[in-house]
Amino acid sequence: MRAIPLKPGVYWVGAVDWFLRTFHGYTTDQGATYNAYLIMDEKVALIDTVKAPFAEELLARVAQVVPLERVDYLVSNHVEMDHSGAIPQAMARMPKAQLVTCSPQGQRGLTAHYGAGYPYLPVKAGDSISLGRRTLRFIPTPMLHWPDNMMTYCPEEKILFSNDAFGQHYASGGRFDDEEPLADVMRQAAKYYANIVMPYPAQAKAALKAVEPLAIDLIAPSHGVIWRAHIPDILAAYKKWSDNTPPKAAVVVFDSMWHSTEKMALAISEGFLAQGVCVKLHDLKTSHMSDIITDLLEASCLAVGSPTLNNNLLPTVSAFLTYLAGLAPKGRKGFAFGSYGWGGQSIGQVGQALTAAGIEPLMEPVRQHYVPGPDDLAALTARVRDLAL
Ligand code: FEO
Repeated sequence: MRAIPLKPGVYWVGAVDWFLRTFHGYTTDQGATYNAYLIMDEKVALIDTVKAPFAEELLARVAQVVPLERVDYLVSNHVEMDHSGAIPQAMARMPKAQLVTCSPQGQRGLTAHYGAGYPYLPVKAGDSISLGRRTLRFIPTPMLHWPDNMMTYCPEEKILFSNDAFGQHYASGGRFDDEEPLADVMRQAAKYYANIVMPYPAQAKAALKAVEPLAIDLIAPSHGVIWRAHIPDILAAYKKWSDNTPPKAAVVVFDSMWHSTEKMALAISEGFLAQGVCVKLHDLKTSHMSDIITDLLEASCLAVGSPTLNNNLLPTVSAFLTYLAGLAPKGRKGFAFGSYGWGGQSIGQVGQALTAAGIEPLMEPVRQHYVPGPDDLAALTARVRDLAL
């Protein structure tokens, strides 16, 4: 693949990882890209690198445009290794380059990973460097989603290099949002927000506030397509998601040993549907938790069910609840349910875990002794139908 021009003198020089299917546990069913950008001016700047195995691809694309020895700045918007992994190879081949970091945290992280021997040039909020005709201005976005994150803005080109923010794990031939099906791109943007950004709504809002006054022709994230035709859509989506006021909708999640908890999940789903509420039903044996969390991004209610196994939860449910607690969704209500033969500890454990994850209880945990009969299931459906959501 060639270096792709964004505007005259500005190029995408990243890499497409078509076959990636997991990103530290989050399923990337449509692959990923690691976007890096090259700006040609009196000084030449490379913004971010790529994951280490793609270093040669990155350098080959840069070399299509300019000899590597001519690169003056390497801007590192984020320490995470999908963007910094190729720094050692890049710095070895770009002897003039100064490595720019956003903050002590960025420099600390890069030093920890790659050593102190590089010519670091820390920058802070409001700092800028002149490339000649163009300027790079730095906007720290700490905890979006690591302490070191920043964005880089080029006012002359009206391009915001937003790093992880507004990204999507989406491998594609098209580099721009209007070259790919918008619904696919937005689903992957939602999945990215739900699984990466969701714990940090205040930081997402702060970033939106910092971006709001900027004149922007392009948002060039470090993953997925570059936004040019649908910038208002992705900004509005981030506003909506970070507001944590999801629409009235339900996600029902369960695992089951002999189908009793499954029957309860179906009855609960019927109850939500009887309220006219959209519902997504997930069996943890077949749905991945990163997809379930993506559905929860657009849902106000969460019901989680587990039977009791050895006085405890099923491990799949336990893993989901651990993941949920880490992402700490705000503004959701929910309840626990499950069947049991004896003991029945799991149902209360699910309820406690939901509360600990910040899910406001809608009702007491629903316990079913042994197999639910038709009357039990009808009563459960009616109970959910009558809940004030
Ligand atoms: Fe795409 Fe936080 O790295």
